[in-house]
Amino acid sequence: MAHIRSLVAGNWKMNGHRSSIADIEAIAKVAAAGNAGMAELLICPPATLIMAASQVCIDTPLLIGAQDCHVTTHGAYTGNLSAPMLKDAGASYVIVGHSERRADHDESNALVCAKATAALDAGLNVILCVGETLELREKGHAEDFVGQQLAQSLPEKSHPASLVVAYEPVWAIGTGLIPSFEDIASMHAFMHDRLEQFFGRNTNAFRFLYGGSVKPSNAPDIMNIPHVNGTLVGGASLNPQDFLAIARACL
Ligand code: PGA
Repeated sequence: MAHIRSLVAGNWKMNGHRSSIADIEAIAKVAAAGNAGMAELLICPPATLIMAASQVCIDTPLLIGAQDCHVTTHGAYTGNLSAPMLKDAGASYVIVGHSERRADHDESNALVCAKATAALDAGLNVILCVGETLELREKGHAEDFVGQQLAQSLPEKSHPASLVVAYEPVWAIGTGLIPSFEDIASMHAFMHDRLEQFFGRNTNAFRFLYGGSVKPSNAPDIMNIPHVNGTLVGGASLNPQDFLAIARACL
């Protein structure tokens, strides 16, 4: 199998002020000096910081992304941000379907699919999040549920160059809990097989991230799991040293 470049993405969620740009600049400088490992590196700060963050990342390998986008390009949608606006601000990626948005904003698979499509249309890369609740896992329905999320939220135009799938079990996010490495391995193999069924082409090129309580201490083992091509990091991405340690664990 050809080597796939890993992606280490930090999701800052609703954290960070202008003073936090210094942290992004610090990561960007380490990456520019070639001391941040081989993975593609991405930070998704709150939208208020995208422009300033992308400015300090010019001429560095650190990419900046957004955490959500609207399904349309513009119009009377108070409080929303469209994919072209995020791209214009300097984002190159957008996360869609994060479980916090699915739960807190009632985002359906169909809406997530429309957001992913809008992002691809705007020329943004997409990180599409899926993942089961603890109840579904305990009942043995994790794969069925994630399979349905994939079937209903992956855009038809998904392409390995512009879409990454992130498996984030809801119960592992921010809890310090992670699934067993066997469970991560079987879910990633399952997702890989599903994408091969959907797109009928060599899906080895699609990247699959694991997310949920990733830390410097568990990142090396997680990155050794087959079909894990990187990590989506919440809490630990707020600390530049931890984010860089996770980045260096990803080959
Ligand atoms: P966590 O969050 O690393 O804090 O568990 C991951 C995420 O929500 O993307």
